[in-house]
Amino acid sequence: MKFFIDTANLDQIREAYDLGVLDGVTTNPSLMAKEGIKGKNNILKHYVDICNIARGGDVSAEVIATDFDGIIKEGEELAELHPQIVVKVPMIKEGVKAIRYFSQKGIKTNCTLVFSAGQALLAAKAGATYVSPFIGRLDDISTDGLDLIEQIVHIYRTYGYDTQVLAASIRHTLHIIKCAELGADVATCPLQPILDLLKHPLTDSGLAKFLADASKTKTK
Ligand code: E4P
Repeated sequence: MKFFIDTANLDQIREAYDLGVLDGVTTNPSLMAKEGIKGKNNILKHYVDICNIARGGDVSAEVIATDFDGIIKEGEELAELHPQIVVKVPMIKEGVKAIRYFSQKGIKTNCTLVFSAGQALLAAKAGATYVSPFIGRLDDISTDGLDLIEQIVHIYRTYGYDTQVLAASIRHTLHIIKCAELGADVATCPLQPILDLLKHPLTDSGLAKFLADASKTKTK
């Protein structure tokens, strides 16, 4: 399973990349706003900065337009920015049409805001590179988001769709582990859940004991 980091924060992207486990980055308008990035030129420059840190990884950049012509115009501009850019398009009627258009032009897409298997089926049929089911937001409304991952993986494997299941809106380590068990192709999450995967109290106590015993073997 690939690991993407879900942030527009350059320091956090650098930290995840330096750990050696980062395969890509996802952003959205809320994450860009959180970093205080304002104005078209600054936003476009920020995407290029992200691509240069996450060298070789796919970087999702979201369109703001919701009409077909607007999505195409914005998406083509984003795609021209850097070869790592993946155009992130919302799961709406005009978005599905745009995904088909981008797919025929060889432009990678990430279909975002997916909350049902039916939506995921449409995204795959339109030729999306990635589909992003938001599991945390489903959990927030008392619906098990992981069930949706299982459903989509099953459908895609049954029919051999190339679209990769990008589990999004991940909140904690158990989400990551369960997504891996269920066969998600990618998990995108904030830095903290990735770092939390490192933790185990037996690792800490075991290391403390090894270091204490190693100090006994030192010659004076
Ligand atoms: C990723 O592509 C999504 O935009 C993101 O995972 C949404 O996460 P949230 O539900 O924590 O905002």
